[in-house]
Amino acid sequence: MAKIIGGITTSHIPAIGNAMANKQENDPYWQRFFAGYEPVKQWLAEVKPDLAIIVYNDHGLNFFLNQVPTFAMGCADEYRNADEGWGIPEMPSFKGDAPFSWHVAESLINQGVDMCTCQEMLVDHGFTVPMALMWRDLPEWPVKTLPFAVNTVQHPLTSAKRCYEVGKALRTAVESYPEDMKVVIIGTGGLSHQLQGERSGLIDVEYDIQCMDAIVNNPEWMCSQSNTEIMEKAGTEGIEVIMWMVMRGALSDKVNVLHKHYHAPISNTGAGVLLLTNSEE
Ligand code: DHB
Ligand code: FE
Repeated sequence: MAKIIGGITTSHIPAIGNAMANKQENDPYWQRFFAGYEPVKQWLAEVKPDLAIIVYNDHGLNFFLNQVPTFAMGCADEYRNADEGWGIPEMPSFKGDAPFSWHVAESLINQGVDMCTCQEMLVDHGFTVPMALMWRDLPEWPVKTLPFAVNTVQHPLTSAKRCYEVGKALRTAVESYPEDMKVVIIGTGGLSHQLQGERSGLIDVEYDIQCMDAIVNNPEWMCSQSNTEIMEKAGTEGIEVIMWMVMRGALSDKVNVLHKHYHAPISNTGAGVLLLTNSEE
């Protein structure tokens, strides 16, 4: 059977993509940020997952504002990247697993999560930057992928609570796939940031740390927060943190924290890394 073997969280900002492309990882500005990923890369190299579910938001590459699904997933054998205008070099395409995706889609829909299914899907920095953070040193991507897009751009948005519920359904969906497969789930985005308006540049370190602790130990607290409450604290784009709740929902109620790291600011955001495994089956 397929199994979710762990969950990871990461920022996905385009500046990270440019720093990697320009080999700036050891520059003083970036050094501590990238060091936060070493234990995660090591763990991935040890456990060798077969497939990564990347929970991210599309920022206008695949879904422009004229058509924005709340939850969408890739159901293809290949996902391409394309130029988004951030200056990040285009990345080689990513492998998908269409039969696995269709199984997950069917199970989610049967559980009441009405997914949008995409047989063509361009993936943007929300997806490509996390992939590169985990696996850029290898000659080719060592995992198949399932892009799982959550609208965090055009209101009305779904909630932290709903993302948590969807994560639980996702676990049931994955773990009912008959093939043996090790699956890792990566929640991307956040933490606090606002890229526009009077409060642009806002970062709230205390709130970020509170969210990271709650995601580990008290996901119900995250679920109790409205989007307005989250955006008041974390900024309008800080709402991306709700995607971490899909990851959290896909793990057991209690989790082991194998690694935790926080760094701010990086570009305009607070950046958090968590590596979690199930502590109950
Ligand atoms: C930045 C953060 C994001 O989440 C994003 O999608 C684009 C830019 C930033 O901090 O610069
Ligand atoms: Fe973003």
